Amino acid sequence: MGEFLLGIDLGTTNAKAILIDRRGKIIFLTSCSYPILAPRPNFSEQDPQVWWRASKDMLNKISSMVNLKDIKAIGLSGQMHGLVMVDKRGLPLKNAIIWTDSRSTPQVKEMEDKVGEGRLYTITGFPPFPGFLGPSLLWIKENQSHILKKINCVLLPKDYLKFKFTENFSTDFSDASGTLLFDIEKRQWSEEIIEKLDLPFEIFPQVLESSQIAGTISHKAHEETGLSKDTIVLCGGGDQAISAISNGVIKEGTVSSTIGTGGQILTATGKPLLDRKRRLHTFCHSLTDRWLLMGAILSAGLSLKWFKENILKTEVSFNELQREASKIPPCSEGLLFLPYLVGERTPHMNPHAEGVFFGLSLKSSPAHMVRAVMEGVTFALKDCFVVLEEVGIKVERVVAAGGGAKSPLWLQMQADIFEREILISEIEEQAAYGAALLAGLGAGVFKSLKEIETKFLKYRKSVFPIKKNIERYREIYSVFKSLYRAVEKNY
Ligand code: XUL
Repeated sequence: MGEFLLGIDLGTTNAKAILIDRRGKIIFLTSCSYPILAPRPNFSEQDPQVWWRASKDMLNKISSMVNLKDIKAIGLSGQMHGLVMVDKRGLPLKNAIIWTDSRSTPQVKEMEDKVGEGRLYTITGFPPFPGFLGPSLLWIKENQSHILKKINCVLLPKDYLKFKFTENFSTDFSDASGTLLFDIEKRQWSEEIIEKLDLPFEIFPQVLESSQIAGTISHKAHEETGLSKDTIVLCGGGDQAISAISNGVIKEGTVSSTIGTGGQILTATGKPLLDRKRRLHTFCHSLTDRWLLMGAILSAGLSLKWFKENILKTEVSFNELQREASKIPPCSEGLLFLPYLVGERTPHMNPHAEGVFFGLSLKSSPAHMVRAVMEGVTFALKDCFVVLEEVGIKVERVVAAGGGAKSPLWLQMQADIFEREILISEIEEQAAYGAALLAGLGAGVFKSLKEIETKFLKYRKSVFPIKKNIERYREIYSVFKSLYRAVEKNY
C-alpha cells in the first residue's frame, strides 16, 4: 500500500490527473473534458457533479494501470474564484458560477462603494472583478435570495471534489484569497467585508494550509471509486498557487509566464506586496508564509482558439497554423491585435474592454492574423511583466509554462518581447503535477520543499532573444499600448 501519489487539476475546460511514484516519475496521465455552460449572455456555469463524474472517469482509467489501493495520497488543484453552493448534505444548490462569468459587474461596483475601493484592495489584494466568489454570491443574494437561504457552505471548485472524497468542508489559503472576501495579511475571512456586504458569516468554510490533511476517503467515495479508505486527501490549492510549485516559483526572482486559456505572469514573495495602482493580484501561496504576485490576462490561448474556430473555422491544426505564421516577419507587417475578447484584468482592470485588429491591409492574410493574435497576447503579458518590475520585483529567470510553452513560435516571441532568456520546464501539466508533489509533501513521502526543488524541478532548455527582433518589437509594443488608450473611451 502507498506506492503512488495522485494529483488532480480541475481546470476550466477539462480535468487532468497525474499519477507519480515516490521518485516523482509520471506513471500515468489522463484527462476528461467538460463544457462551460452559457445559459444567458455573460453567464458561465458548470455542474459540480460533472466535475465529480470526470474525476471518477479518470480514476477508472487509472485503475486499469495500477491498483487504486496503492495510492497513498491525493493532492488537488483547481480553477480559482468560482462559487459552489451546497446544502447540509453537500448537494449543489445550483450550477457553479465560474471565474469567466461576468453577470456580477454591478455587484463589483457595489462592493467598491460599500467597502471602499482602496480598502477592498488593501484587505484582499485583488482588484475586484466579476466572476469571483464574493461578487457572484452578492448576485445570488440580490437575484435568487431563496438559494442564499439554503446555503450551508460556499466552496471553491476543487473544494467540492475534496468534499466528495472526504465529506469534509474546507478550503485553503490560496483559493480563499481569490474570493474578494479574504484578508490576505491576517490569513482569515474578512469580517469587515462580509459584514459590510451583509452576507452570512457561517457559510464560509474553515481555511487550511494546502499541504494539510483534509481527510481520508469516505465510505461513500470508497464505494463509488474503489479508492482505499486509508488514502489521504490533502487540502490543495488554486491552480496558480499549485502550478507555482512545479514552475519553481517558490522564492522571489523566478517568474513564470503561463499561456493557457488565460495568461499569467507570476512570482513569489515573502510578504504580501501590493501595487499602488491596483493592477496586480496579491494572494496567499500554497506554501506556508509565502505570497504570490500575479499579473493576469483573460484571453491568451483563448484568443488563438477563438480565431481558429470562430473566424478561420478550419480543421487545420494549431501546429500547422503556427508554422504558417512563423513565415511572416515579426510584427506581422504592421498588423496588431488587442486580445481583450472577454474584457481585461492586468493592467487595465476593465471588464468592458474588447478585441481590436489594427493595421489591416490588402496584404493581410490568415497567417498574418494568426501571428498578430499571438503577438498581441505576448504584448499583453509584457504589460504584466512591466508592472511586476515597476513594483520592485527583480526578475532573475523566466520559466515558460502552459500550452504556450509547447509552441516554438510563442517561446521565441516571449524571449524577444520580454527581452530575456526563457527556460522551459520539463513538467508539462504543472498544476496536476504540483498537486501530486504537494500530496507527497503533506503525506510525508517527501521530507521537505528543498527535496522537491532539487529532485523534481528540472528545466529543459532555453530560448534566447534575437537582437534584431527585440528592437522591432520594442517599437511596436509602444503602438500596442497607445492603441488601447486611443480606443478605451469607445468601449
Ligand atoms: C487566476 C485565474 C485563472 C483561473 C483558471 O486568477 O483567473 O488562472 O484560476 O485557471
